[in-house]
Amino acid sequence: MDDPRGRLTRDGIRIYEPGDFDGMRRAGRLAAEILDAVGPLVQPGATTGMIDGFITRKVAEAGARSATIGYRGYQHASCISVNHVVCHGIPGSDIPASKHERRPRGNDVLVDGDILNIDVTVIVDGWFGDTSRMYVAGTPKPYARRLIDVTHESLMRGIDAVRPGNTFGDIGHAIQTYAEAERMSVVRDFCGHGLGRVFHAPPNVLHYGRPGTGAVLEEGMFFTIEPMLNLGRPETKVLADDWTAITRDKSLSAQFEHSVGVTAGGCEIFTLSPAGLFHPGQS
Ligand code: MF3
Ligand code: CO
Ligand code: CO
Repeated sequence: MDDPRGRLTRDGIRIYEPGDFDGMRRAGRLAAEILDAVGPLVQPGATTGMIDGFITRKVAEAGARSATIGYRGYQHASCISVNHVVCHGIPGSDIPASKHERRPRGNDVLVDGDILNIDVTVIVDGWFGDTSRMYVAGTPKPYARRLIDVTHESLMRGIDAVRPGNTFGDIGHAIQTYAEAERMSVVRDFCGHGLGRVFHAPPNVLHYGRPGTGAVLEEGMFFTIEPMLNLGRPETKVLADDWTAITRDKSLSAQFEHSVGVTAGGCEIFTLSPAGLFHPGQS
């Protein structure tokens, strides 16, 4: 876990060197390529277990490592969070049933209209690339489509606020004001994080906040932005498996995640989709 590179700010945030961006680029690109390749597998009748198996093989084929296998006892190369699962859905385990949907109990089979987040983190030469995006099995309901669109746009508005001299509060504020104006709620219980040579480092990147508050952004900071938006209330709860987080009111939830690095003029997104597939239905 010890990471001697660069220096730490007074907030304990690591400042990486210009030469470190290339490592993040390679890790981010692999994670994004894997998410590109997964798209055709997401169909009604597919299982989250087989999608995760595919991701496990892709990571190995690339000569990389999964950051999540063995992380705090987690045993899979991805998190797959279906419908009202907010994050950390476990592939291959039962998709939590909801009163709103007909779902065969006790399995991990996707059905028409499901929306799901797939989150992959890889390690390439010691650098971490962490990204997630939304997929749909079959045809989503219009309100589900809208949740996905608003969540993607909220991430991009957060990223637009990334530049030296702005603060982490500016990022959270950009996400929150847009999401709430669209009548969606922002999850408070999970946040983005610094990363680089480690998976989760300072700061906590909140997806809500007030302008001008929090640590000041500096060139050379690497972190994720990964807003989770709900159609209903923001509260979550973690199921008995100790991982799966769901919305308390069982409303639909969506998430997108990029890993970024602060540059002199703004930021570089390390996890852009090489195929332009980040946002389903458009680029
Ligand atoms: N990739 C997740 C994140 O965005 C973390 C997953 S940890 C796991 O930070 F153990 F649940 F995989
Ligand atoms: Co992350
Ligand atoms: Co992630």
